[in-house]
Amino acid sequence: MTDCSLTMEALSIRPMQATDRSAVAELILTSTNAWYRARGAGPIFPDGPTTTAVFFDVYEALDPGCGLVAQDGASGRLAGSCFYHPRTTHISLGIMNVHPDYFGRGVARALLARVVDYADGEEKPLRLVSSALNLDSFSLYNHAGFVPRAIYQDMVLHVPDGGFEPARCQCSQHENKGVSFADHAWRIREGRPEDARAMAILEMDLAGIDRQQDFEHFLENQDEFWHVSVCENDQGKLDGFMASSAHPGCNMIGPGVARAVPVAAALVSAELDRHRGRSPVMLVPTNCIELVDQLYRWGARNCELHFAQARGHWHEPEGIVMPTFLPESA
Ligand SMILES: CC(C)(COP(=O)(O)OP(=O)(O)OC[C@H]1O[C@@H](n2cnc3c(N)ncnc32)[C@H](O)[C@@H]1OP(=O)(O)O)[C@@H](O)C(=O)NCCC(=O)NCCS
Repeated sequence: MTDCSLTMEALSIRPMQATDRSAVAELILTSTNAWYRARGAGPIFPDGPTTTAVFFDVYEALDPGCGLVAQDGASGRLAGSCFYHPRTTHISLGIMNVHPDYFGRGVARALLARVVDYADGEEKPLRLVSSALNLDSFSLYNHAGFVPRAIYQDMVLHVPDGGFEPARCQCSQHENKGVSFADHAWRIREGRPEDARAMAILEMDLAGIDRQQDFEHFLENQDEFWHVSVCENDQGKLDGFMASSAHPGCNMIGPGVARAVPVAAALVSAELDRHRGRSPVMLVPTNCIELVDQLYRWGARNCELHFAQARGHWHEPEGIVMPTFLPESA
């Protein structure tokens, strides 16, 4: 193991730069995989740093200059990194990582303190999604004043190569019919760039947060791995939307919101069909039992649990809210 004796005086926190890209990708990979391996689990990122570079790339595109690194002044090594995303209603905290050689030495606390100071200066709440199975990160955020506000169950579902057909995917152990979304006066269609404003208004209404620029990013899809479905009601207004990402570093359904369970189920179904042959993960509110049950019927399995955490004001969600890890929002 490399020598990493560290005093807090030797640790400098500085803005992330373009030249940090590969070191940050390596740090995210090593940190996350080491943490899970130490607990007997397989690597979360099995495919190397080219996959974890997606966090740097998307966050840098969305919020240039809003990454932080902790650098060991003695060795020059990166000891930790995190990203933050200022929005009109709140600030989100993105993936936080410390190199395993530096675990338990206050590196994450020092990075978080910078973001907390920034949020306090802006007088905005901070929001994030953190694993309910990770007591290290739970304690880190809890010490800093974050409160778990919602619980999500991570559900993974393998989509057949031939596509996702809800009617064919009813799991035999379920006798009831499940959520019906066939006979409604709304329609699911592909999202278009001009939907970004309506998506932002709907999320503001249901979740109390505003982040139109994230939706513009998905809809423009310059990364070529985003897709968005929207649900339009008979008055031409949006009742829900669901994005998804098909990157090996983040293969997820969401983020999305919906006014009602059938809308959420139909949107999830539409996005799942975009992931043929893959096994995307989605964060489903545990208290939304109809949607959870529907996903079980379709063959989804639980793979982890996450909390939406907020430091400061929290808007109790209405309808169904499904966050993701990229971009993180809670
Ligand atoms: C979670 C992680 C970022 C913590 O980084 P770290 O630098 O080791 O954490 P710190 O040493 O700064 O400790 C932060 C605080 O949590 C406390 N803490 C850490 N683990 C704890 C535990 N199991 N129980 C109680 N408190 C704990 C520390 O005492 C410290 O509190 P303090 O500020 O009051 O002293 C690091 O373990 C990591 O990178 N893990 C893998 C990736 C990951 O899980 N990221 C989080 C994604 S949300």
